[in-house]
Amino acid sequence: MIYRLLSPLLFRLNAEKAHHLAMQTIGAMPQGSPAGADPMLSIRMAGIDFPNPVGLAAGFDKDGLVAHKMHHFGYGFAELGTLTPLPQSGNPKPRLFRLAEDRAVINRMGFNNGGQADAARRIAAMPRAGRVIGINIGANKDAADRIADYVTGIQAMAPLADYLTVNISSPNTPGLRALQGRGPLDELLGAVMAARGEQGPPIFLKVAPDLEPADIDDIAASVTEHKIDALIVSNTTISRPALQSRYAGETGGLSGAPLHDLALQRLRDFRAALGTSVPLIGVGGIANAEQAYERIRAGASLVQIYSAMVYEGPWLAARINKGLKELLMRDGFTNISQAVGVDAPRG
Ligand SMILES: Cc1cc2nc3c(=O)[nH]c(=O)nc-3n(C[C@H](O)[C@H](O)[C@H](O)COP(=O)(O)O)c2cc1C
Repeated sequence: MIYRLLSPLLFRLNAEKAHHLAMQTIGAMPQGSPAGADPMLSIRMAGIDFPNPVGLAAGFDKDGLVAHKMHHFGYGFAELGTLTPLPQSGNPKPRLFRLAEDRAVINRMGFNNGGQADAARRIAAMPRAGRVIGINIGANKDAADRIADYVTGIQAMAPLADYLTVNISSPNTPGLRALQGRGPLDELLGAVMAARGEQGPPIFLKVAPDLEPADIDDIAASVTEHKIDALIVSNTTISRPALQSRYAGETGGLSGAPLHDLALQRLRDFRAALGTSVPLIGVGGIANAEQAYERIRAGASLVQIYSAMVYEGPWLAARINKGLKELLMRDGFTNISQAVGVDAPRG
């Protein structure tokens, strides 16, 4: 209701200003305490207890300004970042576009962020009780050695994170996605897991949706070999399905409704390649409980959302959770974990 009143104002501002205003509004909310785990929706994955399976995807709160307040809207977890070792300003503006007719977003932000040291100070001071906070790390655009940047990120952020996400799938840092190739990925994951060591938090890998079958097999083999704790499928797409908006031709990663089918298919592909050996997190175009449930039934233990929140408001997370409970009850499940992968073909 409040969002319905506010959204005409937000949509009159340019997309990046609207985002700043949303962040300020959330930042002004009281800390509060999370409601606690819901018996039907709570799920344990990669050794972490998630109070519910609906998370805030990376990129909304890159610098860790509001992650600890997202429980107000029903989020079971929030992923900060992408954070790079050094601060960087990202690409020139405009670099964020709302494709309202398509319920989509195109962004070419380019990892704008205040750097890991600055975020670390804030995250260390955040209230954490009942909150699951992941930290997504990347490489600086002009890093001489990108793998070294990921190692730096693991070392800097591990003590503060419930989980760490290695993001090699942003289309907005030239050459970054090349790290998804078998040779570079093996080198990267070997270095990252060594830096994490025995004691560190679980490591998740976030992949692009723009992958060929051979890429999927290579990534699945590498993830298995290096014992990655979970796979996040997926980031934004550089493909352009038919779009209505005048911003359709903008360069960058496309997210929201037009990404839905592609991201769901990639999740199915990774489930087929990995079976139940590596847990999956489904992201991309999820805008309601039915779509979240479909992703879970296809094999995702958790889901994340970003673009739909731009159109539906922040309480979308709470609505998805409510709808998920109804769908679970309809199908005779007593906990969400029973629904994970029920629609996946048995390998
Ligand atoms: C404006 C914007 C910025 C983003 N920044 C990041 C980022 O820094 N790191 C990352 O891993 N994903 C980033 N993403 C991708 C999202 O986390 C998510 O994977 C993608 O948008 C698909 O989900 P959605 O369709 O629900 O938005 C960004 C997405 C948007 C729209």
